[in-house]
Amino acid sequence: MLAPRRACAGNLSKQLRATVRASPKGNGFLGNVALARANNGLVRLKSVSAAVPRSVGGLGAGTESSVGSSVSDAKTNRLRSASVASKERMLALEFDDGLKYEFHLCWLRDQCTCPRCLTSSGQKTMRPVELSVKEEEVSGVQIAPDGESLSISWAEGHGDEISVFPSWWLRKFGYSDYADQSAKRSALYSPKHTAGYPEVSYESVMGSDSGLLGWMSQLDQYGFSVLRGCPTEVGVVKRVANLIGPTTHRIYGETFDVIAVPEPINIAYTDTALEPHMDLAYYESPPGIQMLHCVRFDQAVTGGESTLIDAHAVAEELQVRDPGAFSVLSKVPATFQKDHLHRDEPLKMFYQRPHITTNLLGEVTAVFWSPPFEGPLRVSPEFVQPYYDAYRTFRKLLLSEEMQEKHGVEFRMQAGDMLTFNNRRMLHGRRAFKSANGHRHLEGCYLDVDNFLNKLRVLGVGQEIDGGAALSAPREQRFGTSNHY
Ligand code: OGA
Ligand code: ZN
Ligand code: ZN
Repeated sequence: MLAPRRACAGNLSKQLRATVRASPKGNGFLGNVALARANNGLVRLKSVSAAVPRSVGGLGAGTESSVGSSVSDAKTNRLRSASVASKERMLALEFDDGLKYEFHLCWLRDQCTCPRCLTSSGQKTMRPVELSVKEEEVSGVQIAPDGESLSISWAEGHGDEISVFPSWWLRKFGYSDYADQSAKRSALYSPKHTAGYPEVSYESVMGSDSGLLGWMSQLDQYGFSVLRGCPTEVGVVKRVANLIGPTTHRIYGETFDVIAVPEPINIAYTDTALEPHMDLAYYESPPGIQMLHCVRFDQAVTGGESTLIDAHAVAEELQVRDPGAFSVLSKVPATFQKDHLHRDEPLKMFYQRPHITTNLLGEVTAVFWSPPFEGPLRVSPEFVQPYYDAYRTFRKLLLSEEMQEKHGVEFRMQAGDMLTFNNRRMLHGRRAFKSANGHRHLEGCYLDVDNFLNKLRVLGVGQEIDGGAALSAPREQRFGTSNHY
């Protein structure tokens, strides 16, 4: 167990919410497969609905009616009733435990997986935008006798096919409580409420898929995880990374060595302190995962402790404490740059974006922060002073003892440790060090966020780990993959 030099306090209720959310409601990544299976039963359902008059169908504008399911089991996701409000172009569902979800008919029509709408390779052949309003009207809705699926027949443009939706799927992807779902996002790991730092053994990760999944889940949930007991050789970091996918070749190569050298091409290759930062913020797509393997860290070296801080958490604090500064930082585009012509591979990289990204609900989904790589601000004059004022406020908060204790961790890596973290969420840094006669050597690499999330979800299918079961789980908002959800 790593000994935290500073304990980070946490928010228990957030932590608990994260745990609650971590229980999957269904098996999302099997969605298409499961729907295809359901569709195999389509003929049966069709004949049922042909034999039994459709309870809801051909509704006139503004009319509404319901059907009931004969099965009642509150412990399942079974459907109890369905009703269509044609005028509103909505379908309302109630599950056996009383949960009520409403769906837009165009949304349901868009999700149909019948052979007419979806190829066997999972590609859509028809989008609702190409349909007339009439084609989004239903002619019949029926709940299967066991309550475990809903079938819809459409008024036009869908031939004899019926759309079948398993009830667990409807429950999983229901969006009536979108705001609540979105609020259940990852909280920072807190040593106050869990035993020690998130860590796993090298053997467990290399030894089995479940070990690999355990590590990836920690990374996903807490934003970081330390692999302990790695062989202290160069090349190990790539071997571990390749369990997930190919390392991303960036300007420092496929892997890079962090060692203090006389003429560094990067400030990291010195013995000076590094303020909290994300790597490669000047890329359009900064790496999702960074891995730093401590190959050597002699006792003679003083200092050099690693720091991490949850930038999303600090940005959320700013949002509460200084909404004006928060707003400026989420609108005014900063310039991130790597302008270095005089190196073997000359570089002129620039990328402009605001430091903070929010979603539809105004929640933080991404933070871009990399002071050593910020170039000339290029915006209209009226934004310049507000930008600098807001920048100063955020930086002060970020570097405060209070934030470091609440949302950060600091520890000294030992040879054989591999620090792995979400580069989009956790800003990393290090304390200055003095080498004396000793050496400090880290070997690092990056992984794309897409490969990471894909592997996590695939491994997690059927597991009690949400990252694998969910399609775009709420905590994935912590990867800053999009500003739209
Ligand atoms: C880096 C870096 C941290 C360290 O190389 O980008 O942040 O502990 N290194 O040396
Ligand atoms: Zn269809
Ligand atoms: Zn760095």
